[in-house]
Amino acid sequence: MRAYGKIILFGEHVVVYGYPALAAALSTGIVCHIEPTAQSKFTLSLPQIHVQASREDEGAFGQILRLLEEQIPHPHHYGQLVIHSEIPFKAGLGSSAALAVAMIRALLEWHGISWPLQKVNEMAYCVEKIFHGTPSGIDNTVATYGGLCLVADPSKYQMPEYISEKIVLSKFVAGRLPLLPQPIPIIVVNTQQERETKKLVEHVREVYQQNPHYYEPIFAAIGDFATRGYQMFMENRYQELGNMMDINHHHLQTMQVSSPALDQAWQDAKAAGACGAKLTGAGGGGCLIALAPGEEKRIMQQLEKKGWQCFVAEIG
Ligand code: PMV
Repeated sequence: MRAYGKIILFGEHVVVYGYPALAAALSTGIVCHIEPTAQSKFTLSLPQIHVQASREDEGAFGQILRLLEEQIPHPHHYGQLVIHSEIPFKAGLGSSAALAVAMIRALLEWHGISWPLQKVNEMAYCVEKIFHGTPSGIDNTVATYGGLCLVADPSKYQMPEYISEKIVLSKFVAGRLPLLPQPIPIIVVNTQQERETKKLVEHVREVYQQNPHYYEPIFAAIGDFATRGYQMFMENRYQELGNMMDINHHHLQTMQVSSPALDQAWQDAKAAGACGAKLTGAGGGGCLIALAPGEEKRIMQQLEKKGWQCFVAEIG
């Protein structure tokens, strides 16, 4: 069973405060299958990062296995969940949410159970809380439903008429958006610096609480990019999108979640000719996204010459 990673195009962090965020699923993610085992319990194996866990473990993976066994009960039919990731971990690409959705889907298939997507998403949100504390729900929603999603607090933002499906999340509402007329390439630059989403979300809370009057307008401006972004992608308005990405990146610097490597990658992407670029996900390292449709191969070559690890994701 596979679940996809995501990139946040606009709105990371501010979505935690209910402002809108726009995210797109990647075509790669996490794959989970279950192998029969002699043990009368579920175990988990993630060889790429040397993780082995069972329900007795104190850490996050032990907690997650306990939660999943409670919520998808089916005694005497155990196995080992074997997980393989096609995306880097702790890089802002939604690996933990994709992991949650892939595990849930694998367990449902193993037990021969079918759940509606809404229930899979709710369960994945509970797993995300174990990893991140106070997630907005955007990552698990994109991992569950795919495509393009807008997420916001309905008291701050009303979903547009053109959404194809409204999804009620525990805190907010998500709107699935109709697919773009043609997929748009986005360059993803990995700084290869791992970071913890939970710590970065807590850091933003600290800086916000020290100066809420200063940060509220910045949060609102970013939310505005998220709501306008989709229409601009529909209409191929790349230069305007690029400008919004650049401003969003500077706002995220003001929120103290960029890093020297992300800022260097931003400069290199702009110098190579990208319309715009910004960090994606929680920041502090992880990935930068750059927009340069039609020019992506040339720009990627230049970035690779500078030593950056890149790939092209197609959104929409
Ligand atoms: O870096 P990631 O993939 O864990 O994304 C986090 C996105 C945040 O907006 C920073 C947090 C959230 O829960 O929405």
